[in-house]
Amino acid sequence: MNASHTSAELDRWSDHWLAIVEDALSRWISPQAPAGLGVAMRYAVLDGGKRLRPLLVLAAREAMAHGMADAALDEAALRAACAVELIHAYSLVHDDMPCMDNDVLRRGKPTVHVQFGEAQALLAGDALQALAFEFLTPAPSNIPDRVQARLCRLLATSAGHAGMAGGQAIDLASVGVALTEDQLRQMHRLKTGALLEASVMMGAACGDASPQAWTGLQRYGQALGLAFQVVDDILDVTADSITLGKTAGKDAANDKPTYVSLLGLAEATTYAQSLLGEALDALHSTGLTHTHMLAALAQRVVNRTT
Ligand code: IPE
Ligand code: IPE
Ligand code: MG
Ligand code: MG
Ligand code: MG
Repeated sequence: MNASHTSAELDRWSDHWLAIVEDALSRWISPQAPAGLGVAMRYAVLDGGKRLRPLLVLAAREAMAHGMADAALDEAALRAACAVELIHAYSLVHDDMPCMDNDVLRRGKPTVHVQFGEAQALLAGDALQALAFEFLTPAPSNIPDRVQARLCRLLATSAGHAGMAGGQAIDLASVGVALTEDQLRQMHRLKTGALLEASVMMGAACGDASPQAWTGLQRYGQALGLAFQVVDDILDVTADSITLGKTAGKDAANDKPTYVSLLGLAEATTYAQSLLGEALDALHSTGLTHTHMLAALAQRVVNRTT
């Protein structure tokens, strides 16, 4: 199958799933939370973002299901897709606050703290994090308890000290510091890679993955997760704020170590392409047959312009 054929198929597939994810997010994030908190939470999540993490969950679920529907596991995957997007959205709300990157623009809109104040932004992030785990544990439910527990564990591990939050701590401690390539890779793996890898593994957990498939998908998720942040570093330099929906040029302005500051633009781009190769090889090693959308998503991550 050639690349443009696959890309058109990905467009059709993602249009279908994005409508379902948007509808679920809108229904499941109540505007009713006290004192305007629900309004801030909805503002942070709805109407924006590429929704890459939900799409990875759903593509990995499809790779496991190979066309066989299972209502409980399909529901688990949709819940996982929405839960990971809540953790991501919360991480963006906090990342943009003055104590972190101090950004005023996100997803083409004023950031949550600009719109609602810092305290409300902090609380909206906290509440979105908790809500993510409510999504994963509906009661009553036909989703087997062991699947619910596994999804919670994958998401919690990737969001916490050994994942996103830990990576953000390294990021803040690295302002003005010249990191080695190993240190930079570790920072990126944690702050961004962990949640993307977890997205893939949560999709896999909504199915019966063999050890070979599990290991291959993990390697795919790791390569794609790192590639994603390398490209984010590149776009911060090469794209403009309107295209990105967030302020371009912030990494240099905030004196952050990035793949561009370490390797230069050309070498960073080559590195992203080599990670794409790693991701596709890893996918091949799973032995799974329904991996087209995972492959197309990896291509899109590395060749994206936004
Ligand atoms: C931006 O993530 C923050 C990083 C982890 C680099 P995305 O580029 O996925 O942001 P949205 O969800 O599309 O807004
Ligand atoms: C953010 O990395 C990673 C998160 C955990 C949110 P960045 O700080 O580079 O993300 P952007 O560029 O602001 O989206
Ligand atoms: Mg940041
Ligand atoms: Mg930032
Ligand atoms: Mg960035």
